[in-house]
Amino acid sequence: MTRRLACVKGLIRRFNSKDHRHAPRNGRGGSGCWQGEAAHARTKAPSVSMRSAIVPSLQARRAPPLSGEIHVPGDKSISHRALMFGALAVGETAITGLLTGEDVLHTAACMQALGARIERGVDDVWRVRGMGVGGLVEPDQVLDMGNAGTGVRLLMGLVASHPMTVLFTGDASLCRRPMARVTTPLSLMGARFVGRSGGRLPLAVVGTAEPMPITYRLPVASAQVKSAVLLAGLNTPGETVVIEPEPTRDHSERLLRHFGAEVRVEDEADGARRITLVGQPELVAADVVVPGDPSSAAFPLVAALLVPGSAITIRNVGTNELRTGLYGTLMEMGADITFTNSRIAGGEPVADLVVRASSLKGIEVPAARAPSMIDEYPILAIAAACAEGTTVMRGLAELRVKESDRLTAMARGLAACGVDLEELEDGLIVHGRGRPPRGGGHILTEMDHRIAMSFLVLGLVSEAPVTIDDGAMIDTSFPGFASLMGSLGAPISEAGAA
Ligand code: S3P
Repeated sequence: MTRRLACVKGLIRRFNSKDHRHAPRNGRGGSGCWQGEAAHARTKAPSVSMRSAIVPSLQARRAPPLSGEIHVPGDKSISHRALMFGALAVGETAITGLLTGEDVLHTAACMQALGARIERGVDDVWRVRGMGVGGLVEPDQVLDMGNAGTGVRLLMGLVASHPMTVLFTGDASLCRRPMARVTTPLSLMGARFVGRSGGRLPLAVVGTAEPMPITYRLPVASAQVKSAVLLAGLNTPGETVVIEPEPTRDHSERLLRHFGAEVRVEDEADGARRITLVGQPELVAADVVVPGDPSSAAFPLVAALLVPGSAITIRNVGTNELRTGLYGTLMEMGADITFTNSRIAGGEPVADLVVRASSLKGIEVPAARAPSMIDEYPILAIAAACAEGTTVMRGLAELRVKESDRLTAMARGLAACGVDLEELEDGLIVHGRGRPPRGGGHILTEMDHRIAMSFLVLGLVSEAPVTIDDGAMIDTSFPGFASLMGSLGAPISEAGAA
């Protein structure tokens, strides 16, 4: 944790300062979150007392009605991809609304290490000067991706079709996560991998000079795997095809087209989607406007539904239908959510959401909906714990290999807060009593930002406050979460500082 914090603080400093503007290419002392840099940081490691100030135990207490208007940070999935595609395009791409969470800062640092020039302007517009498809340079240090599963899996695809060796590592959570799902198809394209058992990080990608196009049917519904194969397909001659039995988020396809690649999407007879990328395109710089992240908006949204008397507006939220399964599910449960000002911004649908406190009823969530709300089950479980009746969530084996085992983390935390539930191999059954549970739990967040935010939302309505052990991970996706919630009236503070 100490190393992660020191490393991330370095990243944030770099992109907040002017230094990065003249960062040497190829990562020589100027880019990337290197082991070398981390080793340097270790010599200045925070003391234990400083750490507790940096890694706060946070507490949420029962809130008065929430009110106000907010913007949530930029979409994490789109932010990673905008940096990567910008770095592969010829010319300068301006990105507005980029998420400045730690996961995305790691991707920015790594794209610099691979040769792109990336600047964060005083106007908060990020400018990326790309190298063109096939133009990556081999980094001279290990690339540390922190907590970012999307970042590392997509980058493994990107470098797999380049003749270079790239070493990846990450934090304790990322080093536990399975990578075979991307190394399997990328091996078929000709890349080689040397990693720990189960293909886990730290891991070396030995990219190939002669990548072969493949047709790959996804064995798990995963936009990360789909995107890794498509990214490898960019520097591969011929057509790379991914067949996805269940549709997953399509930000890669949309952005690839936006940057000038030829991408065809066809429906197969069995309902699967066939995505074809024509290799070795000339990607041309194209500005990107990143919408607010619907996965982040889910936390204030559920808080407003649960805290009696609340009415809030969340502006400029992405409403891509492959991401918004939670919203439909909550509306089936009785949630009062109105979509206003629906529009297209930067190639993605967005809207303002008006949310009012509602009485929720338990439902059975169709398993087929999982890919469109895969990151939202922790916060849905909180809503279910306060709803009247039973909510059944199945088809969620993937939740066991996210930033934490989210099924176990939620089951343990909810039980500690007095919620009646059953943990299944691939799901959760939550028995709500139509009122908030007791609360009072001390939650182990297991290095998982979404577990942390979910239980803080529960603490806003439960009888006793809810405490989480580590609020620092929230910065991976939602920097400023506690203060933004505070602006709506939600009392979230360091434990003991109430
Ligand atoms: C993401 C895809 C999902 C999601 C993750 C972001 C992406 O993962 O959980 O937070 O940006 O492609 P999987 O592809 O593993 O389902």
